[in-house]
Amino acid sequence: MTASTKAYRARLLRFSPKGEALFDDDGLLVVGADADGVQRVRDAGPYRDLIARHAQVPVTYWPDRIIAPGFLDMHVHFPQTDIIGAPAEGLLPWLENYTFPAETRFADAAHAGEVAAFFFDELQRNGVTTALTFCTSHPASVDAFFGEARRRGLRMMGGKVLQDRHSPDGVRDETEQSLLDTEALIRKWHNQGRLGYAITPRFAPTSTDAQLRGAGELAARHSDTWIHSHVAENKDEVQWARELFPKARSYLDVYTGFGLMRERAVYAHCIHFDDADRALMRETKTAAAVSPTSNLFLGSGFFDYQGADRIGMRHGLASDVGGGTSFSPFHTMLAAYYVGREGQTKPGLSLAPSRLWWNHTGGAAQALGLEGVVGTLQAGTEADFVVLNPAATPLLARKTAMADNLEELLFALIVLGDDRLVERVVTAGTALPA
Ligand code: GUN
Ligand code: ZN
Repeated sequence: MTASTKAYRARLLRFSPKGEALFDDDGLLVVGADADGVQRVRDAGPYRDLIARHAQVPVTYWPDRIIAPGFLDMHVHFPQTDIIGAPAEGLLPWLENYTFPAETRFADAAHAGEVAAFFFDELQRNGVTTALTFCTSHPASVDAFFGEARRRGLRMMGGKVLQDRHSPDGVRDETEQSLLDTEALIRKWHNQGRLGYAITPRFAPTSTDAQLRGAGELAARHSDTWIHSHVAENKDEVQWARELFPKARSYLDVYTGFGLMRERAVYAHCIHFDDADRALMRETKTAAAVSPTSNLFLGSGFFDYQGADRIGMRHGLASDVGGGTSFSPFHTMLAAYYVGREGQTKPGLSLAPSRLWWNHTGGAAQALGLEGVVGTLQAGTEADFVVLNPAATPLLARKTAMADNLEELLFALIVLGDDRLVERVVTAGTALPA
């Protein structure tokens, strides 16, 4: 034991590396800081089994509360915080009428900094401890994002948006400069403590071949960075991409051609896919960020969970704010449940509550290439966790008290929960001065 070792006693939800939910009604989570200043889980399990070997460790006791892994949001746009709930007929008019005008303002570092601080407050209130995040095409937005994440000691990934065509003045960037800026930002922020850089072409229709090729070259040179984009979200978008890239087998195939599919490549939506697309995702270890509140709000379509699992492609959950309607992982899990049920005629659960929860924690971590780092509360992982109050509202208190097993408890939290459930968030990193 070192001086920094601490323990927390409460009900405890963890996941095995394979995604099995483990629950202790009276659990203990023991954490301690390593030389890098990051708190990691030393031990976790039933209180009665563990306490003897941690007799000297100070214990914080939260009776009736549930400790669970912090949530991971696989795809979110911090500059779209202020356009949440903007109605549009579909993706392309929504981009033109709301998104691009809002993103134009992020050339201004002060505006970017103010929104970044609000965004991280909002993630925290909702129990999200890691997010793969779009910034805007302006390098100032990236500095604001990472600067704020670093100050708070958070594990966060993000990057400058690449969009050098079919984009209005104010957000359109210039091919060569955009790639130089990306490389400079990688050097400045990637692997600085818990931060990771994501090479971020907005989507194929708004990048020239030269920009996509340059992005792929950067991704090859910096092989542990993330790649982050959108694909096959909306039928008009798919048709546009097919017209712009007629030689590709499919819209997804455009990205392979430019070296933009590999482990740590993450594509939001992946709705209008065939099995060959799903197999390409699997073979390249590319992951889908499933964004159900966004897909329902913008009328984009329904992610095919059965298709994804039949072929075996990686996927996890995402808010996609501002297309998405909520920062709350509970809202996202409930929307994923609705989407998983779509078109089903047979009775029975398509997506078990513990599977939905896994898809927003340890499963999302695996899909992001962060297996063993966050998301499970297994020993050795970083100690980002939430403390939930299952009696946060009268109805939650009543319903969770009736739960006869773990699935019933988790389902009550998913269906009735929101930010009121999240009593506190404990993160593993050291907050640094500005
Ligand atoms: N496709 C290209 N840009 C965007 C965006 O900002 N949001 C969503 N949902 N889809 C996109
Ligand atoms: Zn998006």
